[in-house]
This record gives sequence, C-alpha cells and structure tokens, in this order.
Amino acid sequence: MILVTGGAGFIGGNFVLDWLAQSGESVVNVDKLTYAGNLETLTSLDGNPGHIFVQADIGDRAVIDRLLVTHRPRAVVNFAAESHVDRSIHGPEDFIQTNVLGTFRLLEAVRHYWSGLSAPDKEAFRFLHVSTDEVYGSLSSTDPAFTETNRYEPNSPYSASKAASDHLVRAWHHTYGLPVVTTNCSNNYGPYHFPEKLIPLMIVNALAGKPLPVYGDGMQIRDWLYVKDHCSAIRRVLEAGRLGETYNVGGWNEKPNIEIVRTVCALLDELRPKADGTSYATQITYVTDRPGHDRRYAIDARKLEAELGWKPAETFETGIRKTVQWYLDNPNWVANVQSGAYREWVGKQYGGGTQGAERAA
Ligand code: NAD
Ligand code: TYD
Repeated sequence: MILVTGGAGFIGGNFVLDWLAQSGESVVNVDKLTYAGNLETLTSLDGNPGHIFVQADIGDRAVIDRLLVTHRPRAVVNFAAESHVDRSIHGPEDFIQTNVLGTFRLLEAVRHYWSGLSAPDKEAFRFLHVSTDEVYGSLSSTDPAFTETNRYEPNSPYSASKAASDHLVRAWHHTYGLPVVTTNCSNNYGPYHFPEKLIPLMIVNALAGKPLPVYGDGMQIRDWLYVKDHCSAIRRVLEAGRLGETYNVGGWNEKPNIEIVRTVCALLDELRPKADGTSYATQITYVTDRPGHDRRYAIDARKLEAELGWKPAETFETGIRKTVQWYLDNPNWVANVQSGAYREWVGKQYGGGTQGAERAA
C-alpha cells in the first residue's frame, strides 16, 4: 500500500480517487482536515476497504511513526501543505509550521521507518514530494519557461515555505540516501477545487450574482494544468522517476488571468445563461493587486515528457469545460465546503464580509 498526506485536499483528493479507481493498491490517507480538507470529496469511497482515512498532522511524529509501522507502505506521497498565497500573506505562521516543520518531521519519521526495512524493500521505497513552480519566482514576458535547473527565487511566504521543504527533501536524499523524487507543478484546476482559488471562486461568484474580483490589471500569467493530468504525472514519476531528481509538470498553457475569467464567463453564458440575458462578464470587477504579485509562471515540462513519456490528456479547452460543468453539477459540494471558516476568510480578503466586494485601491 501507499501512504498519502493531504488526501482530503484538492489535488490529494483527486489523486486518491484516481489511484483507487485505477489500481488495486490500498491508500492510507493522512490529513489534518484544515479549512482546505474536505472529506466530502471522498464520500464515494465510503465503505471501500482500500481507503483508510486518518485525521492527523504530518508533524505528529507519534502518529506518523505508528501508521508507518502498522501499514508498512511502499511509498509516501506528500501533498499536505498550506497552499493559498493570499492566506500566506495574511498569516505566514501556519505555512512555516506545516510546509517547513511538518515536512521535516515527516521526513524524519519516514527516514526512521525506511532505515529499518529489508534491503529489497528499502531499495523499492519512494518518498514523492509534491511541490510547485512558484519556488522559481516570477518570469518576465520574454524569459524562457522554468526548467528544473532554474534558481530558486521564491517571492511569497507560501512559495518560500515550499522552497524550504524542497530543500529539506533534497538534503534527506543527499545526506541520508532517502529515495526521494520531487515534482514542481504549475497551477492546477478541476473538480473539488476549494472556491477561494481563482477558477472555482469565479464560477461560484458568477452563479451567485457576485462580483468577479480580478487583481490589478488581470494580466498576470499562470500556466494551467487539469488536476487529473497532474495526478497521472505523479503516478508516472512514482513509478519510474529517477531518485533525487526533480520533474517539472505543466500543460504548456500560459494564459493571463483576465482571459481565464472571460473563458469561465463565456462557458457559463453557454451552459447556464442568465435569466436577464446579460453575460456573466458584466460582473468582472478590478480590485487592488496582491502585494508582491508574481507576474508570470511558465513550466518547461520536456524532461518529464522525454524521460518518462508523460503527456497531459486534456487541452485547456476540454479541461475548463469539464471543470465548469462539474461545478454546475455539484452545488451541494460547494455549499458544504462554504463553512463559517470560509465566510470569515472571504470577509478578511475581500473586505466588508461580502464575497468579492471591491477593495480600496
Ligand atoms: P489544498 O490546500 O487544497 O489541500 C491541502 C491538504 O493538506 C488539505 O486537505 C489540508 O487539510 C491538508 N493539510 C494541511 N496541513 C496539514 C498538516 N499539517 N498535516 C496533514 N494535513 C494537512 O492544496 P492543493 O491545491 O491540493 O495542493 C496540494 C499540494 O500540491 C501542495 O503541496 C501544494 O503546494 C502543491 N501544488 C498545488 C498546486 C495548485 O495549483 N493547487 C500547484 C502545484 C503544487
Ligand atoms: P490563485 O488561484 O490564488 O493561485 P496562485 O496565486 O497560486 O497562482 O491565483 C491565480 C491567479 O489569479 C493569481 O495571479 C492571482 C489571481 N487572482 C485574482 O485575480 N483574483 C482572485 O480573487 C484570486 C483568488 C486570484
């Protein structure tokens, strides 16, 4: 079996669902269930003996030690993290706790377990660390896309904490020989994405008749990948990635934020037209920019493609259509994750306690 951390979050949840649908191998899913963790995502696994859920912190040595000894996984896939840049600006402490200290404690627990395995099990074992392209910093419009040899230049508390965790993973390989691989992926989108990130926030706000808050001039560029393609890349790297290596994962799909928002509006106009005949795009509202906002991310995924033969299955056009349709088909999931904690965050970020309200420039 494998042990997954953060498997009640957006990408981890999609990964666990896909893994159990595609392989007979069981999963121990360790998640602290912060505001971002939603067991609602995993309800289709109720009663499935191949899914063992444990609510715990990756930094809790006693629990992680016990789980490793009890379940004897052949691999650990580490998704658990604080992941929202805007939250890291308001309160960086949790990011240091989980992404830096939590990863350190998890690495120590795994090292202890791994060092006690038999020689063949030791050799076969893998620790896969899921990271982000944001560790490389920001590109100008003419820079080439990030490759695995780009310098780390993180700019936000979130990306700095992820960069720190990547360095720890690298050092545990170099110093202790722990068999690690790291993936650095671009922005994901798809089902079960918490509606405080750009794409789900725009869908949910649009349907609720609320403003669609675009930061600054809306011309910041992100490189978008459908979440299930990220999951297939992780499965491939787990299977065949070279030890100690890092692999960039991306969909060759750079787009400015405003174009993403307009695309979401156009799809909603088609799939759920407004009664008054106006476009959802009339709800777009430019708001104060994020402090230190990175201008452009772009991933060069040629290493993963050439070495491991991975390719994304979705284009942006097919992936975004599936995503918008998923949110239209799953209003209950959205309603259930919009808890008190969610509403509190929206009030803090967008002001006045109303989702998407315009902020003072
Ligand atoms: P998410 O915020 O949706 O989910 C994170 C999950 O981790 C949640 O279920 C949360 O409860 C859990 N968690 C948080 N702290 C924990 C702790 N101390 N112990 C145990 N569980 C804890 O994040 P996501 O978007 O699914 O991202 C997953 C991973 O992928 C992260 O490491 C993130 O840095 C990375 N990543 C995300 C993206 C993206 O676009 N979302 C892109 C590249 C990389
Ligand atoms: P986000 O989904 O938070 O991902 P990240 O910051 O990790 O790239 O944001 C994606 C882009 O969308 C980013 O450039 C910030 C921008 N954005 C808005 O313009 N408005 C919003 O309300 C949000 C949440 C993000």
